[in-house]
Amino acid sequence: MLSTRRICLVIIAVTISPLLGMGAKADTNRATFPADFDKYVLYATYDRGSSKEEAFALPETIAFSKSGKPLPAGTRLILGIWADYKLTGYFVMHKGVGWGLEVEEERRTGDWHFQQFGLDKQVNRTAIADRCESCHQSAERNDFTFTIDRMRDYLP
Ligand code: HEC
Repeated sequence: MLSTRRICLVIIAVTISPLLGMGAKADTNRATFPADFDKYVLYATYDRGSSKEEAFALPETIAFSKSGKPLPAGTRLILGIWADYKLTGYFVMHKGVGWGLEVEEERRTGDWHFQQFGLDKQVNRTAIADRCESCHQSAERNDFTFTIDRMRDYLP
C-alpha cells in the first residue's frame, strides 16, 4: 500500500515536471537530416580558404524561392561545414507548422528549428541551437535565411 505522503510526492512530481520542462533549456528541436539528401542541389558556396560552406536545398525549394514568398513548412536547408579543407558536418534548418511556438520567444526564428549533424548524419548532441537562432534572428526580413538571394539567383 502506498502511503498518502508517497502519493502526494508522486502527484507533485508529475505536475511539476512538465512545468520545469518549459524552462530555458527545454526547447523542442524537430530538425532532422533529410533521408533524400542525394536529391539536394548545391546552390551556393562560401569559400574562405581552408574553411568553406556549401548550401543545399531541394530543387522544389529553389524553384519556390523565386516567388519571393517565405519558404513553406516542410522545407529543409542544409549547410555543409568545411574546416582544414575537410567536410566536418552539416547545419540544418527545418521548418514546420507551429514549430516556432516550441521555442522560447526571445530565441524564436519563425517556424524554423536549427540542428547540427555530424558526418554520420546523426545529431550532434553537444551543439546548442541558441547560437544558431540568435545569429539567424538578424536575417528576419529574409525569413531568417542568409542565402536566399543566392537561391533565387540560382539557375539549374
Ligand atoms: C554568427 C552567425 C551565425 C551562426 C551562429 C550560425 N549561422 Fe547559419 N548562417 C550564417 C550565415 C552568414 C550564413 C550564410 C552562409 C555564409 O556566409 O557562410 C548562414 C547559412 C546557414 C544555412 C543555409 C541557409 C540560410 O540560412 O541561408 C543554414 C542551414 C544554417 N546557416 C544553419 C545554421 C545552424 C544549424 C547553426 C547552428 C548550429 C547556424 N547556422 C549558426 C550565420 C550564422
